[in-house]
Amino acid sequence: MTVPAAGHIFKASVCFIPRTLLQRSSPPTKAPMDAFPEIPGPRPTPDDVRGALAGVIDPELRVSITELGMVKDVEVAADGVVRVTVALTTAGCPLRGQISTDVRSKVHGLPGVSDVKVEYGEMTQEERSALMQRARLHATKNAPSTEVPPTTRVIAIGSGKGGVGKSSVTANLAAALAARGLIVGVLDADIWGFSIPRMLGAKGRLGGEKTGPDRGKIVPQELPVQHPNGGPAGKLRIVSMGLLVDDEDTALMWRGLILAKALEQFLTDVSWGDLDYLLIDMPPGTGDIQMALARLLPQTEMLVVTTPAKGAQKVASRVADMARRSYMKVLGIVENMSEFVAPDGSRHAIFGEGGGRRLAKLTGAPLVGQIPIEAAVSTGGDEGRPVVLSATDSAAAHTFEAIAKRIVDELLPPVEMAGCTARIFEMAEANLASARVSP
Ligand SMILES: Nc1ncnc2c1ncn2[C@@H]1O[C@H](COP(=O)(O)OP(=O)(O)OP(=O)(O)O)[C@@H](O)[C@H]1O
Ligand SMILES: [Mg+2]
Repeated sequence: MTVPAAGHIFKASVCFIPRTLLQRSSPPTKAPMDAFPEIPGPRPTPDDVRGALAGVIDPELRVSITELGMVKDVEVAADGVVRVTVALTTAGCPLRGQISTDVRSKVHGLPGVSDVKVEYGEMTQEERSALMQRARLHATKNAPSTEVPPTTRVIAIGSGKGGVGKSSVTANLAAALAARGLIVGVLDADIWGFSIPRMLGAKGRLGGEKTGPDRGKIVPQELPVQHPNGGPAGKLRIVSMGLLVDDEDTALMWRGLILAKALEQFLTDVSWGDLDYLLIDMPPGTGDIQMALARLLPQTEMLVVTTPAKGAQKVASRVADMARRSYMKVLGIVENMSEFVAPDGSRHAIFGEGGGRRLAKLTGAPLVGQIPIEAAVSTGGDEGRPVVLSATDSAAAHTFEAIAKRIVDELLPPVEMAGCTARIFEMAEANLASARVSP
C-alpha cells in the first residue's frame, strides 16, 4: 500500500466554491425523521420536551426558540405523540423548514416519543416586538455567548471509557466531512489528554487576531483538506491545548485550570469563523465538561463510541444517559475496533461482539458504523495522516466516509441559511426604532 505524503493531503491552496455546490448526494435538510424508531422509556413530560427544544436555535436570531418564546404549546398524548406549536414571526418564513426539521429531530431524541407533529401559528405584532426585544436582550445580557455560529452543527464525540477510539473517530470524521468540501472545526476538549494535533498533523502554536473586532481572540489552526481522489476542497480549523502549551512541563503548570473553564474559553475566545460542523473530542467519562457543553452549546448532539465488548458498551450507556439528562440528543453510536480481518481473510472478533448493536437498541440511537481494527488507523493517527485521507481503500476509511455521508445527508445536515428577508427588514426596523428611543 502506498500512502501519499502529508503535503498531498493538506493542500496549500484552497479553492472556494459556493456552499450549494458542495458534494452532497441528496437534497439537504430533508431528513427522513419519520424513520426514527421510538426510543424505549416512559413518556416525556411537556417540560422534558421544552428542555429538548432549548437545543433548537433560530438560525437567524441566533437564540434558542424556547428563549425567544416561539414555543407556544407542547402536548404529549398518552400514545407518545408530541404536538409542538411554534409561533413564527411571519407565516411564510422560509426558515420554517429548518426549524421544523430541528424540532422533530430533537424531540424524537427523547425516550417515549412515538411521533412528532409540528404546527405553526403566526405571531401578533405585539408578540413580534416582544420577540425582537428578547433577541436584543439576549445579545447584550448573555454575553459572553460563544463564538461558535448558531448555524453550526455541533457533534460531541464521547465514551465512558478511555482508549476506545474517540479521538481517532473525531479526527477521521472531521477529515471525512472536510473532504466533502465543508468547513469543520475540531475542538480538543480532552484538555490535558490532547491527541488531536498529533492525529491531524497540526503543528506550531496558535496565534491571536491582530486587528478587527476579534482582536485578541485565538485563531484556530487551519488546514486545507483535499481528498486524494479529488472532489471539493474543505477546511479543518483546529483548537487544542496541545497547540497552546510548549511542552509537557508547561502543561503541568497549567493543570490547575478548571477544565470546564478551559472549554468555555475555547468556545468564547476563539474566532472560529463560519463553520458547517464543530466536532468536539471529549475526555473519557462523564462529568463537568459534558455539563458545561450542554449549558454553553445546547444544540450539541452526542456521538457515542464503544467497542464491541460488553463492559465498554455498559460504560458508554452511562454517557448516553447523561447526555439525555442534559437534553443532549444522542446522534448515533459508533462501534470501534469491531473485528480484525487477517491477510488470509479470516475474521477475528478480538474485543467481542455486539456492543454497538446492544447500545443502539438500548438508547434508540442508530448504529452509524462499525470500524474494523486496522494498523493504518493507528499509524495514520501517529503520523498525522487520518486514514480517510491516507489509506482511502481501507475498510476503516470507507466506514468513516459512510458515517460522514449519513450525517450530512440524513442525521444532522448542515444548516441551509435561506434568509427570510421579511424578518431581516423587520429586525432592522425594530433596531432603528429602539435606537431612536434610547438616548
Ligand atoms: N479502529 C482502530 N484500529 C486500530 N487502532 C485503533 C483503532 N481505533 C483506535 N485505535 C488506536 O487505539 C488507541 C486509542 O485510540 P484513541 O486515542 O482514538 O482513543 P480515545 O478514546 O480517544 O482515548 P483517550 O480516552 O485516551 O482519549 C490509539 O493508539 C489509536 O491509534
Ligand atoms: Mg482521546
